[in-house]
Amino acid sequence: MENSFVLKGNVCYSISPGELALAANSYLVCEEGLCAGVFQELPEQYRRLPLEDCTGKMILPGLVDLHVHAPQYTFRCLGMDMELIEWLSHYAFPEEAKYSDLIYAEKAYGSFVEDLRRGPNTRAAVFATCHVPASLLLMDLLEASGLVTLVGKVNMDRNSHPDLQEADARTSIRDTEDWVSRALKEKAYRNTEPILTPRFIPSCSDDLMVGLKEIQRKYGLPLQSHLSENKGEIAWVRELCPAAANYSAAYDHFGLFGGEGTPTIMAHCVWMEEEELELMEARRVFVAHCPQSNMNLASGIAPIRRFLNRGIPVGLGSDVAGGCHTSIFRAMSDAIQVSKLYWRLLDQQAAPLTIEEAFYLGTKGGGAFFGKVGSFLPSYEFDALVIDDSGLRAPYDLSLSQRLARIIYQPDRCAIERKFVRGRDILRIDS
Ligand code: GUN
Ligand code: FE
Repeated sequence: MENSFVLKGNVCYSISPGELALAANSYLVCEEGLCAGVFQELPEQYRRLPLEDCTGKMILPGLVDLHVHAPQYTFRCLGMDMELIEWLSHYAFPEEAKYSDLIYAEKAYGSFVEDLRRGPNTRAAVFATCHVPASLLLMDLLEASGLVTLVGKVNMDRNSHPDLQEADARTSIRDTEDWVSRALKEKAYRNTEPILTPRFIPSCSDDLMVGLKEIQRKYGLPLQSHLSENKGEIAWVRELCPAAANYSAAYDHFGLFGGEGTPTIMAHCVWMEEEELELMEARRVFVAHCPQSNMNLASGIAPIRRFLNRGIPVGLGSDVAGGCHTSIFRAMSDAIQVSKLYWRLLDQQAAPLTIEEAFYLGTKGGGAFFGKVGSFLPSYEFDALVIDDSGLRAPYDLSLSQRLARIIYQPDRCAIERKFVRGRDILRIDS
């Protein structure tokens, strides 16, 4: 059987936000790309499968980045003295304009994808730029990497850099439909899918939003965007959409705020009104919590405890280049740390996130956007990391939960030895 094997080692995965499964020296079975279970003793029916002995190593689900900008990888760590709107016009927009040049795009996207392949993330929801050829090139590179991704050609027909902005709503819609149909029919990717990507309300005219809803209906596509990241941005949305009760309502006006059959990710959600949370809960809109970006751009602290209490789905995002680090281990430790400041400084009812909760958000929480992903429960897709954490050993015995905490806080001291996506080891793909 292709794609069927057994790993033996210390297996750790989330069952729910508060419940972590820790199975020392156990067998993790992959059957045709899906997880068949975790066992103390290997059941008879799996004894003929190839066994990889990873005794002493940690085996974790692959991590999920629910929000990353591929073209911004080139200027990560720069411009961190600005807030969102200024940073977009000084850094993000001029850099993204360069992706009209496919030679530049190939060089830049090549290093982004290669670094992602080697890191701990196995899945990502990715923003490209508004350029169709470069967006397809990024999808080709991601497909070749073995990672599983949702990729969006960005829509932006107003309030942007003259070299970047699309000519008008018609052009943007025509290009989007061209890109979607090429991605779905001509390319027929296995691991790479299109996701509609209106950049945010200030970048998209009403006509463009109406056209995107039509494309969504026609092709049944998911959608990703930004929501309530920065106070200046929110004031701007209020000016642009005076009839909308809040920022979420500005998307909802066009039918672009989740609901049955239209899975939606909104990045940030820092400054949210109570009615917006009600709507997110009812529509099952995913929050991509991007704590490092929210610190770097001085945006604020998202009220993650409020989202979790309501049962709103939440995952973690790097938001490169708002964030500097692609690794979702870093987003986990940042999420815990900012939640402590939120509790201490803003709301004593909002208990800080635990390690178990942060690990859940970066695996099964965000993974839910991709289906049964981010855990080793039976029938989950087999995305797994085999980690050598011997660089973190202490002069006393560490429990598995202590080792997991150290990996989350100091991933740079660990080595990823194997990285499986849908049962395939993508570190062994030659590049
Ligand atoms: N809002 C609109 N575009 C962007 C972007 O590129 N990065 C971030 N952090 N927020 C945005
Ligand atoms: Fe972003």
